[in-house]
Amino acid sequence: MDIQAVHDYTVTIIKEAGERIRKSFFETMQIEIKSGANDLVTNIDKETEAFLVKKIRAYDATFRILGEEGMAQEQITSLDGVVWMVDPIDGTMNFVRQHRNFAISIGIYVDGIGQAGYIYDVVADELYYALKGQGAYVNGQRLSPLEALPLNEAIVGMNAVWATPNPHVEHEGIIQLIRTLRGTRSLGSATLEIVAVATGRMDAYLSLRLSPWDIAAGIIIANEVGAVSSTLDCRDVNLLTQDTFVVANPSIHKKLVGDYITLK
Ligand code: IPD
Ligand code: CA
Ligand code: CA
Repeated sequence: MDIQAVHDYTVTIIKEAGERIRKSFFETMQIEIKSGANDLVTNIDKETEAFLVKKIRAYDATFRILGEEGMAQEQITSLDGVVWMVDPIDGTMNFVRQHRNFAISIGIYVDGIGQAGYIYDVVADELYYALKGQGAYVNGQRLSPLEALPLNEAIVGMNAVWATPNPHVEHEGIIQLIRTLRGTRSLGSATLEIVAVATGRMDAYLSLRLSPWDIAAGIIIANEVGAVSSTLDCRDVNLLTQDTFVVANPSIHKKLVGDYITLK
């Protein structure tokens, strides 16, 4: 695979997809509930994924595609060969409610190794991307390597519900963590939270359940500036399943996960 040619093509199609989404703001969108009231999908999610699938296949029909909305109609049970991971709109709740703070995400893996990642903040017109080993960029400007910092100076992305009694994580540890940190944030788009870590706007992002398309691109981008990704119990990320997830500045990753987070 000619990664540079694939890169140029991906930049073109992700921006074209973004332009289509921006135009959709002037039309009435159809909203459906998926697994629950907080899990939405719109016709624009589906149309955007269908558009990207068509474009990817037009480039090379052997590329395999795992997309959140299933428009590729493929079962991906291994990461052999070239696999594209597509989230057509990450942050659908923000898309519906705010018309901002959502992104298109594309991660390209070859035999399980991340080669290229793209996260396009459609309304800000900011394209974050990285090719393996070549650094991470936003709109052509290289992102700086992350600098070490102590936990009490860190800003961490997490869901506020973790600080209340819940079935997933010991909330007392989370309360201690919140007291230790400089601040917390919740942006409502996993991909934009990961690029917030990659740009140093946040120092870590934690989630109890993310899918491969939520993290595939972000891991590649974050890795290029030195961020560390794992599950919350410090296992390697598996891109064939849903799991917990953390991406963090390497200076705080172990302490954050080891000292404060206990999964039930
Ligand atoms: C969701 C967003 C959200 C995260 C959820 C994801 P979607 O993706 O990234 O911030 O908390 O776990 O499912 O459904 O908007 O593509
Ligand atoms: Ca998502
Ligand atoms: Ca989505």
